[in-house]
Amino acid sequence: SSKQYENIIASSPEPGVALVTLNRPKALNALNSALFAELNEALQFADADREIGAIVITGSEKAFAAGADIKEMKDKSFSDVYQNKFLETWQQITTIRKPIIAAVSGYALGGGCELALMADILLASSTAKFGQPEVNIGTITGGGGSQRLARAVGKSRAMELTLTGRTWSAREAADWGMASRVVEEEKEGAVVREAVKLAAEIASKSQLAVQAQKEAVNVAFEQGLSEGLKTERRLFHMTFATADQKEGMAAFAEKRKPNFTHS
Ligand code: HXC
Repeated sequence: SSKQYENIIASSPEPGVALVTLNRPKALNALNSALFAELNEALQFADADREIGAIVITGSEKAFAAGADIKEMKDKSFSDVYQNKFLETWQQITTIRKPIIAAVSGYALGGGCELALMADILLASSTAKFGQPEVNIGTITGGGGSQRLARAVGKSRAMELTLTGRTWSAREAADWGMASRVVEEEKEGAVVREAVKLAAEIASKSQLAVQAQKEAVNVAFEQGLSEGLKTERRLFHMTFATADQKEGMAAFAEKRKPNFTHS
């Protein structure tokens, strides 16, 4: 995408890959409403673009995002935030069909940590510092932190982390299963390059299979086991209506590479 934004940079560093870079460096990528509106627009755009198979969200070396914008929030009243559904548009990210990879270096605090938790895959640079410090400013997680963090790291850790507001490391995030792995930041930008490589690999598969697979895994976080298994089986059966399943299995039998048409 070549569209110009104020608070993010949208690019395509590799065929099939959309890269969204949060870009409010002076505020450590604090997530204000304008940034979030642009992020949602760029994600919808990438989701609708047939050339794109996977999406990477990243920030800067110093900060993935230091949280929701405290200066924007501080004077809001209850009726402001309730009646204007403050931050409810964050949920739009969960409607994106294509896989989203968060490439996190530096601070991922508050809403920044919650944004990273919304991604399908989280790659943590060795420089990453995660935290849910809302308790320190008299509020609580509001972008899914309590729910997604508890599911990712378990109840006791989620309680300890959110009740003290202490930060945790990339190593801890990976050991607990919140991040899939740590990328050593030997050279600047290593985690983004790794995320783009991973996104390009995913983008080389059948987009239909990839999106159905993402939908199936997500059901594990939303429904019970028997409903989840039923949904998975329906989605599995659904793939037999696609040209990509015919092509993928024929290519295997004929000992050649598949040529997916995403149809
Ligand atoms: C607004 C922020 C900000 C934030 C940093 N800045 N975080 N502005 N909202 N969340 C601004 C600073 O005010 C400062 O602006 C500039 O970015 C650089 O930050 P410094 O503090 O000078 O940098 P440093 O000393 O390196 O400290 C980095 C930091 C600290 C440890 C990350 O900035 C910090 O603690 N930030 C707040 C973290 C936080 O509490 N996040 C949770 C927010 S609540 P100036 O103009 O002075 O240069 C939240 C709710 C979630 O996220 C609910 C979501 C639905």
